[in-house]
Amino acid sequence: MNKPLTGKVALVTGGSRGLGAATVRLLAEQGADVAFTYVSSEKQAQAVVDEVRNGGAKVAAFKSDQADVSQAPALIDDVVAHFGGLDILVNNAAISVSGTVDDPDADTAALDRMHATNYLGVIAIIRAASRVLREGGRVITVSSGFGTRVGVPGVADYSATKAGVVQYTMGAARDLGSRAITANVVEAGLMKGGMETPNPETLKALLSSLSLQRIGHPDEIAAAIAFLASPAASYITGAVLDAHGGYNA
Ligand SMILES: NC(=O)c1ccc[n+]([C@@H]2O[C@H](COP(=O)([O-])OP(=O)(O)OC[C@H]3O[C@@H](n4cnc5c(N)ncnc54)[C@H](OP(=O)(O)O)[C@@H]3O)[C@@H](O)[C@H]2O)c1
Repeated sequence: MNKPLTGKVALVTGGSRGLGAATVRLLAEQGADVAFTYVSSEKQAQAVVDEVRNGGAKVAAFKSDQADVSQAPALIDDVVAHFGGLDILVNNAAISVSGTVDDPDADTAALDRMHATNYLGVIAIIRAASRVLREGGRVITVSSGFGTRVGVPGVADYSATKAGVVQYTMGAARDLGSRAITANVVEAGLMKGGMETPNPETLKALLSSLSLQRIGHPDEIAAAIAFLASPAASYITGAVLDAHGGYNA
């Protein structure tokens, strides 16, 4: 297999399962040394490490709570100490908490944790990583179709976190371009085995709004991330790559 990422060090946040695990596997197959974070799934994280290591790649898992912004600088220091540098940051880790804006029983603590994880935590990691990213580096932020177009009720908070990190990543593209570092967004769509299975009514509405009329596989979204990480994407920055089956078509 072609290994365009040989010699690169990648950090994928939330690599213990779902899209993050698919991205860890693909970047490692393409030659990168890969660090990834998780917060609670110790066994799943170890299983990803074992699988990728058996494939011959260098990989390490770091337990780090993205909702606690104070942990971001130490995470980046640990990754650099382990692998000797950092070239590719994939901001994937996120949680989903739904509910309408007028719900009197809304679990505001859970919603606040989502804002901390999906928005403030991503910003803290971009800040810490951008200080050490090497020339030619990559920042790739995973957003959602909801980051651009909300589309269904009950996802105002989630969508706001995803829209926020899109704009932060655009700002990073402007700030880091002089160091030949690109920053782009992949807007993911509904995925098999992902964070939340919508209720049947929402699922039906979402599927009928997709050009491809089907749920995606994490490998299909990881492929978009790997492209933006590759040397072939050297002149692409400040872009949003939609990998959600045509939600905006
Ligand atoms: N699934 C979908 O249908 C869909 C649709 C559009 C966009 N997306 C986006 O795609 C990305 C991946 O989604 P997914 O469905 O693959 O998610 P997932 O299966 O729920 O996995 C989430 C990952 O993030 C980690 N994580 C969660 N909270 C964390 C925290 N506080 N600190 C560190 N790591 C944390 C989890 O670690 P633990 O295992 O330790 O909890 C896990 O590795 C997200 O950015 C999501 O917004 C997903």
